Formats: sequence, structure tokens, C-alpha cells
Amino acid sequence: MTTHDIRLDGMQDTQALGRRLAGPMRTGDALLLSGDLGAGKTELARAVIRAQAGRQIDVPSPTFNLVIPYEFRDLLITHFDLYRLENAADVMDLGFLDALDDGAVIVEWPDRLGDLTPPEALRIELTADADRRLARISGSATIVERFLGV
Ligand SMILES: Nc1ncnc2c1ncn2[C@@H]1O[C@H](COP(=O)(O)OP(=O)(O)O)[C@@H](O)[C@H]1O
Ligand SMILES: [Mg+2]
Repeated sequence: MTTHDIRLDGMQDTQALGRRLAGPMRTGDALLLSGDLGAGKTELARAVIRAQAGRQIDVPSPTFNLVIPYEFRDLLITHFDLYRLENAADVMDLGFLDALDDGAVIVEWPDRLGDLTPPEALRIELTADADRRLARISGSATIVERFLGV
């Protein structure tokens, strides 16, 4: 396990992190975004998806749909928000495993994945205090190196 902290002092830092994470993304990848409500999970997911799109496409929070796919020319990205789910069976019903087979996934509230948690995921824990925001990025040395180059 490797851990790497990145300060997110403003939205431009979140957008820069989004671009950095979008570059290496490929089929089978899972970005697991955890943190409290308002920590910035959706903003980071939006930054990654817009970086893939290469333009400011509409990226709504999946709070109500729970799952929103984005089909780009060379990659499918599926954005999940599992907040309202109870267990792994519900996650299965959303097509999580197919999404991971067919493309990359970005997951808010990944603790709901339980046994379905991909073993080689990149975990990003977001925190927002009064005076600072932080992204704590962790995973195997291999995956952290591939995404961050560190
Ligand atoms: N640097 C930053 N990165 C991400 N969000 C920020 C930042 N600065 C301020 N915000 C604000 O914090 C909120 C994050 O909300 P959101 O991404 O929906 O959180 P979550 O999905 O974790 O509940 C948004 O209102 C956003 O405008
Ligand atoms: Mg959200």
C-alpha cells in the first residue's frame, strides 16, 4: 500500500487532479471516491470525466440515477453513486461488474461495494475542513505509480 496526499486549495487543483487521473485510465480501472457529503467526490468525478471528454460536458451527480455511463471514443466510463444502496446485491443489479468489464468505473460511497470491491482499485479519500481540502490517494504501489507517476 502506497499513500500520497494532494492539497486541493481551489477548484483549479481539483480540475488538475482530474486531468492527471484521466490520462492513465483504461478498461478495468476503478477510482473509489470516499468522504463525507460535500467533500468533493462528484466534483472530482466531473473533472475526470470532462478531462476524458476534452470539453465541459454536462456531468450531473448520480444521486438519483445511481449510475450514469459516458461513452468516449476509446473508453467507457461509468459513474456510480452508491449512497442509497444497502448491499452488494443492489450493486450487482446496477450492472457494476459489467461496467468494470467494459470500461472504467468511478464510484462514490465505495464502502457499499463489499465483496465486489475491485482488488486493484485506486482509492481517493477526500476531506474538506474549514481551511483546507485534501485528497489522500492510496492503492498498490503499482496502481499509484501508474496514475500519479510517483
Ligand atoms: N477544491 C474544491 N474541490 C471540490 N469541491 C470544491 C472545492 N472547493 C469548493 N468546492 C465545493 O464543494 C462542494 C463539493 O460537492 P460535491 O462534489 O457534490 O461533494 P460530494 O459528491 O462529496 O458530496 C461543491 O459545492 C463545490 O463547489
Ligand atoms: Mg456526490
